Amino acid sequence: MPSRERRALKTINAKATNIPDEMILGALPAPYQGLHHPPSILPTAITTTKSSKTIEIVTIPDAIDVTKNRKSIGIGLDENLILRILSSRYESVVITCINTLADLIKLATRKPDLVFSGVKYFNFSGTDLWLNDFLDRHGIAYMASNRKALDRESDKSRAKNIMRDSGVATARHFITAPDTHPTAGSVPLEYPLFVKPLTGGDSRGIDANSIVYDFESFRSKVMDIHQSQALPCLVETYLSGREFSVGIFEDNASQKLTAMPIEIIVDENKNGDRILDFDIKKFDRETVTAVTDILVHKQLSDLAKAAFKALGGKSFGRIDVKMDANQVPHFIEANLMPGLRKGYFYRACLLNLEMDYEQMILRIADNGLTHNSDKTRHHPVATLELTP
Ligand SMILES: Nc1ncnc2c1ncn2[C@@H]1O[C@H](COP(=O)(O)OP(=O)(O)O)[C@@H](O)[C@H]1O
Ligand SMILES: [Mg+2]
Repeated sequence: MPSRERRALKTINAKATNIPDEMILGALPAPYQGLHHPPSILPTAITTTKSSKTIEIVTIPDAIDVTKNRKSIGIGLDENLILRILSSRYESVVITCINTLADLIKLATRKPDLVFSGVKYFNFSGTDLWLNDFLDRHGIAYMASNRKALDRESDKSRAKNIMRDSGVATARHFITAPDTHPTAGSVPLEYPLFVKPLTGGDSRGIDANSIVYDFESFRSKVMDIHQSQALPCLVETYLSGREFSVGIFEDNASQKLTAMPIEIIVDENKNGDRILDFDIKKFDRETVTAVTDILVHKQLSDLAKAAFKALGGKSFGRIDVKMDANQVPHFIEANLMPGLRKGYFYRACLLNLEMDYEQMILRIADNGLTHNSDKTRHHPVATLELTP
């Protein structure tokens, strides 16, 4: 094996936490040496003077438990940890807990330079108000995608249709619910099929029975998801190959994308299949490794960048990918508000860019400050209204 390739194949120690000198100087980290598409984003350089930009970390009551607020919280994060990290770099960082619309209006009048938040939307008196819509109306920068992109991503069928129309490989699919496909002959795709909830995350509703080989097991899994999740199902051609997730960083100044693929490896389940089901994620039974094959790294990076662009993603995100039996990568779903604890996005940064957790958070904040920075769309607070 040529030494260039060997360098690129280096698996990074997942426990590494110090920022290597070469990162500060801007040299390419090992996984990118020899690659055709080096990263366009590198960790934020360490400086001794603090920036005077103002940042508010916005949260809601009970945001600690993401599973309880799984619809209104998009990104799980630890506000106190984020506060400590950002305070090392920015002079004015505060945590703001939003209880009422009045709290939000006060935030708009303070007009911070950046809102750092995992909140998707608030519910005030029974009406949903999307945080990023609100911030857009007030010309305040935030760290991730706008609501339109989040809408495209959250319905997995819609996201897959966008992929199909953009030429990004994704398994064939249809939507169903109990009684939508009442007979064996009405099921439009060949078995084996994979049945999962149309929306949601954390592999909720996904278990060994998600892979179905006949009409009886198809019908029973659709009923299970209807009863346990109260959701319709997305049914796809089963992808039996390796599984990956690809972190994406967009440099907001240049709009260049950096893809950071990782492989997620799980043991075989009782049926001999490997899927990232609810229990595996919950009990952290999966192994995450760097993608060491240069060709696969490139294939995954190209697919994920195309998917991110097609969805209109902004700043950062994660694209889930699975290979079919012929090792062809297919888009599964996008996460445009990926968790910011030490999960897949963080591990994608670490394994690809040798970027530690602090650097990742600082990079997101720094990049977010570039987003919407022209603030040309100022709207007076008096015109504030709730939108559905
Ligand atoms: N078409 C498919 N074929 C095989 N496995 C799949 C398929 N779709 C999803 N999976 C498995 O189910 C897991 C969860 O699916 P995903 O759509 O990513 O849901 P979530 O939003 O809960 O992460 C995937 O990580 C993968 O292991
Ligand atoms: Mg997923």
